[in-house]
Amino acid sequence: MIEISGVSQVFQTSGRQSHLALSNISLTIQDGAFVSILGPSGCGKSTLLYIVGGFVAPSQGTTRVKGKAITGPGPDRGPVFQEFALFPWKSVLGNVMYGPRQQGVSSAEAEAQSRQLIEMVGLKGFEHFYPKELSGGMKQRVALARTLAYHPAVLLMDEPFGALDAHTRTRLQNDLLNIWERDRKTVLFVTHSVEEAVFLSDKVVVMTRSPGRIKRIIDIDLPRPRRRAELLLDPHYQKYVVDIEGMIDDTSEDELHP
Ligand SMILES: Nc1ncnc2c1ncn2[C@@H]1O[C@H](COP(=O)(O)OP(=O)(O)O)[C@@H](O)[C@H]1O
Ligand SMILES: [Mg+2]
Repeated sequence: MIEISGVSQVFQTSGRQSHLALSNISLTIQDGAFVSILGPSGCGKSTLLYIVGGFVAPSQGTTRVKGKAITGPGPDRGPVFQEFALFPWKSVLGNVMYGPRQQGVSSAEAEAQSRQLIEMVGLKGFEHFYPKELSGGMKQRVALARTLAYHPAVLLMDEPFGALDAHTRTRLQNDLLNIWERDRKTVLFVTHSVEEAVFLSDKVVVMTRSPGRIKRIIDIDLPRPRRRAELLLDPHYQKYVVDIEGMIDDTSEDELHP
């Protein structure tokens, strides 16, 4: 589904010289796989997602989705990024309906689909609320529903639950897994949390510190559907978490050099 080959990214920064953010990344992601990217802050995780999203053209290397070169953003890849805020002037329903309406779906049909998605992400009853009336977790749910509404083949999620409290985060992880187990989209998911990555993923990609390279790719062979409460007690799960934690270079950000 996604082929990243030999991708490097150099940024020209003001005052400084060029900065190598990603170095020679090659990664193939199968159709329907849930793949997480883990790595220290600044290692280029967001940059990699932007490249796959088509928002940034890599300095070197090629990226393909379903065999087609990525030349820009497209409806086949749905970003769920903090930066893509909800439209503040549209209600929850208006935000979710926006994509299908843009794609030419009739108003009645878009509304019916959107109401279903809003229910699926657990926001039934909030259709006519505005973003400023919602909590952070609710906004993340709307953002997910909005992206699902235009049926992208690939979901690109950049630390979508990072800003949430532990309880809300756990609920959203469960909801995301339920949705994913239902329709098996390809997901590329960036996170800081090893537990989150192991719980959700088929594969975990561990990156090195800046300049980001792929350090290890770990297959997570835990049966699905996964239940968090059971996994936490499962020695296989615990071993994945401990092993992967040991692979991450967690040198503090103060020690980063450009
Ligand atoms: N638009 C940009 N211009 C210059 N440097 C950038 C830009 N975007 C990211 N960088 C740099 O690239 C590196 C990787 O950033 P990023 O992909 O955001 O890392 P991560 O998401 O892993 O924390 C950082 O050193 C960051 O400063
Ligand atoms: Mg980032």
